[in-house]
Formats: sequence, C-alpha cells, structure tokens
Amino acid sequence: MHSRPRVFSGIQPTGTTHLGNYLGAIRNWVAMQDDHDAIFCIVDLHALTMPKAPGEVAEGSLRMARTLLAAGLDPERCTLFVQSHVREHSELGWLMQTVASYGELSRMTQFKDKTDAAAAGQTKSGSFISAGLFTYPALQAADILLYDTNVVPVGDDQKQHIELTRDVAERFNNRYGDTFVIPEHRVPAAGARVMDLQHPDRKMSKSLDSPQGTVELFDEPKAITKKFKRAVTDSDGEVRFDLSAKPGVSNLLSILAAVTDDAPEGLADRYEQYGPLKSDVADAVVAAVEPIQERYAELDDDDVRDALRLGADKARAIAAPVMDRARVAAGLLV
Ligand code: TYM
Repeated sequence: MHSRPRVFSGIQPTGTTHLGNYLGAIRNWVAMQDDHDAIFCIVDLHALTMPKAPGEVAEGSLRMARTLLAAGLDPERCTLFVQSHVREHSELGWLMQTVASYGELSRMTQFKDKTDAAAAGQTKSGSFISAGLFTYPALQAADILLYDTNVVPVGDDQKQHIELTRDVAERFNNRYGDTFVIPEHRVPAAGARVMDLQHPDRKMSKSLDSPQGTVELFDEPKAITKKFKRAVTDSDGEVRFDLSAKPGVSNLLSILAAVTDDAPEGLADRYEQYGPLKSDVADAVVAAVEPIQERYAELDDDDVRDALRLGADKARAIAAPVMDRARVAAGLLV
C-alpha cells in the first residue's frame, strides 16, 4: 500500500480541451496533487482509435501536456506522462483483452454512442469504426491497473469504464491469484456531466460537431460570454435546479457551482431571471480560464518535453514491476 492514496487518470490528446474536461477532470486533478500520489496520463494510444492525420496525435499530446501544466499540474508534485512512452500500457492492454468478454465490451455506452454517431455522420472523423474502439476499455483498464491505483477521478461518462476495470481486475485475480489492486472512481460533486450549451440533453463532447454548444478552454473571453448568452434554456422563466425538466438552466447552475465550488441547488435561489445567471456563469468561467490561457502562452515546449520525459521515467519505474507481476501471474514463460 502507498503512504498516500494512489490516484490515476487519463485524457485523450484530441482536438482541444473543453469545459467538460476541465470541470469533470482537470480541475480536480490539480486539487488532488498534494494529498495523493497522483499520476496523470495523456492517452495517445486511445486517441488512435479514431482516424487521425499524420502528426496530429504528437502535436495534440504536446498541446495537452502544455494545457495541463498551464492548468496547474506540477511535474514535481505529480507524475505527468504520455501513454505510448511507457510500453507496459500496450502489453497489459493485451492481457486485459483476454480477460474482458465480448459481451461486456458490447455493453459499453461510449462504444455504442460513438458507433451510432459515426454511422449517422455526426463525428468529425467519418464513419470508420476500428476494432480498437471496441477493445478500448481493456486498454483503459490496463492504464489504471498498472499503477496499483486506488482512486480514478473522472467525469460521469467514464464511470462505466471504471466499473469494467474493477470487473476485469477481479476476474484476473480470481483466475490467476491476487495481482491487481481494485480501484474506485470518483466524480466531482458538481461538473461531473457538463452538457452542450446548444443541446443540453447531450454532454459536451470533443468528437461531436457543435462549436456553439462547446466552450473551449482556449476560446477568447468574448466568445465564451457569447456562447453562454446564447445557451439554450426554456420558456418558463423560472431559475430552478431540475435536471430532467430544465436541463439547460440546470447545466448553467452546475457549471457555476463547479467553478465557484458551490452547490447548484442553493445557487438557483439567487436568480430570478436567466439573463443575470448567464452573465454570472460567463464571468466565472472567464475568470477561471483566463489565467490558464496566460500561463499556456508563457510555457516553452522544450520545458514541456522535459516534464514529459521526467514523468515517463517515474511512471515506468512503477509500471514495470506491476507488469512483471502480471506476466508471472498469467503463467507466461519468464
Ligand atoms: P476523455 O479524454 O474523453 O475525457 C477526459 C476527462 O474529461 C471528462 N469529461 C467530462 N466531464 C464532465 N462533463 C463532460 N461533458 C465531459 N466530457 C469529458 C471525462 O470523464 C474524463 O475524465 N477514456 C478516457 C481516457 C482514459 C482514462 C484512462 C481515464 C484512458 N485511460 C484511465 C481514466 C483512467 C477518455 O476518453 O476521456
């Protein structure tokens, strides 16, 4: 057991980072660095499950690392690295494919949503569906299990993948003897499911094409304000937190709660009209992202690469012995 709980989480280096990624994940990662043994991974191999242009993933990884450092991850206080720099991820990913079942993987809502969206032509990357998109959760399980992880801080949409990770880890342990630590997910009290501002019935997402509904971390403050002013609400005019009856207004309240560390239900009482709520959310979001944008501009790519090199060394030192343990347990000739 580690002296502090071990935390592991990952993010794909695809496109840009949106408010859902920030509130559902990154903001909480930054907060966890001091009282946890925290490991964060830019999951470039996962990104390849959707077609990418040559060079796109490398550039995305560098940009994501720079974003995470700008958001407050400190390479001295946490481990930040790129997945493909630590080969054990691919290797354990294969072992995990052998203990995950076809039925289990078929039930993953992310897989179903992404294949439905691709079939309907709603994704940026066309209609190709890779086998990797199907086995993706086995690689995700490997990411987590390689570090004897206790806690996985994620947004709501990843809960099912963490549950699968627990199931395959338990299956491996039952089949081959105690090998892996069984992790738990942790979602934030507010911001775990940030919805698209134009379609408050679906989550804000990198892969769906909805520029007006998606607030990017690097949008200009003016653009952020405009997107919030135009956010879809409803016509009854009452500010109330009610996710099913008032998804648009509830989303605004949740976002405000997440950025100000407050509770969405209580915040509703402070507003009589949508206009002031929208401008307060916009101001609060701008106040949260502006310093990140400034730090991003000040960072140097060479320093970012140094941080990733250091991170990969630290990650490898943890992952290699766990991989050895799994190899021996699975009965491979060593
Ligand atoms: P990804 O890259 O899609 O998202 C990164 C993190 O952002 C959260 N998130 C959201 N939170 C709130 N509202 C939203 N609209 C929203 N959209 C995204 C996600 O829940 C996630 O925490 N499969 C993962 C990456 C991964 C991973 C891992 C995570 C690979 N291996 C191991 C944890 C542990 C993914 O695609 O996240």
